[in-house]
Amino acid sequence: MNHTFYEKKRMALENMLPDNSIAIIMAGKEVASSLDDNYPFYANNNYFYLTGIREPEGVLVIEKSDIETTEVLYIRRSDDDREKWIGRYMTAEKAAEISGITNIRYLDQFAPELLLASSHTLFFDQTIPDHQKPDYANACDDLKPFLVRLRLIKEPEEIELMQNAISITAKGIDALCDITVPGAKEYELAALFEYIIKDSGADGTAFATIAASGKNAPILHYVENSDTLLEDTMVLFDLGAKYQGYAADISRTLPAGGKFSEDGAKLYNAVLTAQEKIMDAYRVGASMNDIQGFSRDVLWEEGLKTGLFAEQSSIDDYYYHGIGHSLGMDTHDLCVDRNLTLEPGMVVTCEPGLYLAHRDMGVRIEDDILITEDGPVNLSDMIPKTIKDIEARMR
Ligand code: GLY
Ligand code: MN
Ligand code: MN
Repeated sequence: MNHTFYEKKRMALENMLPDNSIAIIMAGKEVASSLDDNYPFYANNNYFYLTGIREPEGVLVIEKSDIETTEVLYIRRSDDDREKWIGRYMTAEKAAEISGITNIRYLDQFAPELLLASSHTLFFDQTIPDHQKPDYANACDDLKPFLVRLRLIKEPEEIELMQNAISITAKGIDALCDITVPGAKEYELAALFEYIIKDSGADGTAFATIAASGKNAPILHYVENSDTLLEDTMVLFDLGAKYQGYAADISRTLPAGGKFSEDGAKLYNAVLTAQEKIMDAYRVGASMNDIQGFSRDVLWEEGLKTGLFAEQSSIDDYYYHGIGHSLGMDTHDLCVDRNLTLEPGMVVTCEPGLYLAHRDMGVRIEDDILITEDGPVNLSDMIPKTIKDIEARMR
């Protein structure tokens, strides 16, 4: 991504801010996992979105008066001793080059008390973990709603990165087709996927990989991945690569050994048929709430035809999650409002599923959909999905 992207996004934010306001966006800090070791660090995505920088501790301050707007980026000052242990800090020149911000200063020059003393309205991006927020954050308005609005609509260059994340994920799924056989361990499958995507240039996974065979498939966020694949079982994979900060989020359900059982095929086709109908509803102006209601009706209707539902049951027994969510830098990309109506440039998942705990099986099929004026565009269309295509690939 070029610095012009970050400049454009800061300008869009600045246009939304009221006059005489100050916005503070922090990268967040590393968190210790153990003595002398940290959890992997992921910069606050709002900070990354506005600067292109993924180092810890940085602070972006935007000040908008009625005459001019200034942007200052505070970064860590170089420290030879620390850098010998943990690697080089970004230089001011590099930070300016990546972000397009000319005014780079060091963190020891950041003086929030001066900002607090001003008569401007203070906005603080409340996305960072609570324990990392400075005391004054509570006294500020929340900047997040502005950023939600911005990040929901993707620019062409963001869609390109997401398409790369999806293509890399597709490679990983393709490799899984060769080793999804009875006797394999779920963790072997997850490990191969993660190896392939990293070897293909991914940052890593967008979220914890799910490889849930048989009775584990109805557990929505099953990440234990410790079981052995049985004969005639299906494996529900929900996985995704992250590429240059952007996530893919895909689910495919594969038959161990390459051939669906009779009942497995019935359930699979019910979800696939439902997904085709639901995806067609991903149109400009439709609300995610309405699509949710529609998905319940369609999954019930298609599921009933299989004859696999228990008597006196309802759709809630077999389908108990959202039909989709905004996707972007975060897998669940800041979109919490189910009343959201779809607009061109949004990328939203379509992930219907039916989970039959009484039959030890579950199917979810998840694709990543770009909303356009001309209708939904399935960005993950290249990943095999029909029984015919899956069985042909696995044979
Ligand atoms: N992988 C989490 C989800 O599909 O939302
Ligand atoms: Mn998923
Ligand atoms: Mn999802």
